[in-house]
Amino acid sequence: MGRLIAISNRTATQSSNRAGGLAVAVWESLKSTGGVWAGWSGDVCDGEPGEPQTLEDEGVEFLLTDLSREEHDSYYLGYANSVLWPVFHYRVDLASFDSETFQVYAAVNQRIASLVAPRLQQGDSVWVHDYHFLLMGDSLRRADWDGPIGFFLHIPFPAPEVFRALPEHPWIARAMCAYDVIGFQSEQDRANFTRYLVEEFHGEEGEDGEIAVFGTTVKAKAYPIGIDAEGFKQASESELAEQAEARIGKFLGNRLLVIGVDRMDYSKGLPQRFEAVGELFDAHPELHGRVSVTQIAPPSRSKVEEYKELRIELDRLAGRINGDHGDLDWIPLRYLARSYQREELAGLFKIARVGLVTPLRDGMNLVAKEFVMAQDDEDPGVLILSEFAGAAEQLTAALIVNPHDRGKLAETIHLALTMSLEERQYRWRSLRDIVTSQDINWWRARFLKDLQGLQPV
Ligand code: G6P
Repeated sequence: MGRLIAISNRTATQSSNRAGGLAVAVWESLKSTGGVWAGWSGDVCDGEPGEPQTLEDEGVEFLLTDLSREEHDSYYLGYANSVLWPVFHYRVDLASFDSETFQVYAAVNQRIASLVAPRLQQGDSVWVHDYHFLLMGDSLRRADWDGPIGFFLHIPFPAPEVFRALPEHPWIARAMCAYDVIGFQSEQDRANFTRYLVEEFHGEEGEDGEIAVFGTTVKAKAYPIGIDAEGFKQASESELAEQAEARIGKFLGNRLLVIGVDRMDYSKGLPQRFEAVGELFDAHPELHGRVSVTQIAPPSRSKVEEYKELRIELDRLAGRINGDHGDLDWIPLRYLARSYQREELAGLFKIARVGLVTPLRDGMNLVAKEFVMAQDDEDPGVLILSEFAGAAEQLTAALIVNPHDRGKLAETIHLALTMSLEERQYRWRSLRDIVTSQDINWWRARFLKDLQGLQPV
């Protein structure tokens, strides 16, 4: 089998950064084939970026480029995170449409393609990741690469009616069809993309996800991403996990823990979740002093205006809820705007009675799967999961909620807190079986089978 060449905006050059879902998956695939991982170095330079840096680790070569100030502002903060991110998460109202940032976005895709293309060899397969590089397949073709190129979108693909809000949608769609295989997180995302091509460009659906359009054929399928299930279970039994359990245990006492862990992003439904917690304590005074809700929310992309506003909103809501309900010896809602290590989170999940995963829109949401794997077999907690997370297509034994319905969400938290042990065990076993069997290796193997199956034998 030939080498695998991965391209993603963020790479994982340090082993501690490989703990996340994508990073682990890409890393394992690259190590087994001896591949190359290309992307942004994480640094912003004055003037034009110089030669890319190369590093080697365990047989994997990293090819990393700095971004110029203009590229960082217009490609990363601009088109990727202030246009594509909000639109793909159905927040057209938050998008800052700007044709100049699209030009820079396209130029960065082309620049990185021209760094990668000369290093490609016959037999290689290229695997591009996420919304930063929608145009990369087309850019690589322009740089004369004619071998297989696959793409995996980690975030949702919106309904065609929403995608059409992007002024550049026809160009983006045409460029995406330069990929041989396009992977989506869910059936719904795949169906949205396919319907867009059928309605807008008379695409014709064939066998096994194939769509004939623009004089070519692209395979579009759902490949729901999984986690390193066994590794996460082990993380929940580690020393760091135990230390985290002991630390929160001092604060919790006999109270039940309800936990949420999300990047601080408007797609995660945090204000709605906080309001629902307020409604829970309004409606159920018997829970006062008996339950602690802890939300961990590491700040993210804090230079983008919408993220600054979200931070202010969350500070305000948490203050109000604790002001209304708290007591001398009880903080109802703890909100920690910082990050914790994977093992520490695993320890917190393990002792939580309820896991709250209620995004307004999410590609998959790996926290839901991690919460499941960290549970104690005999005394598992309950997962509350938004119907708008990709994970809801697989994790049907969770308590599925509409995060906009605050009253219902409050009642669902109450239901989870009072659920019988038998029902908790029954639901959890079903979730665990799915997270274990459809893990990160399953995801990677399914995608690479379709991509590498394109190689001439
Ligand atoms: C999401 C995206 C990733 C991205 C991550 C963190 O999970 O799908 O591509 O890397 O958010 O965002 P950041 O802008 O910090 O890379």
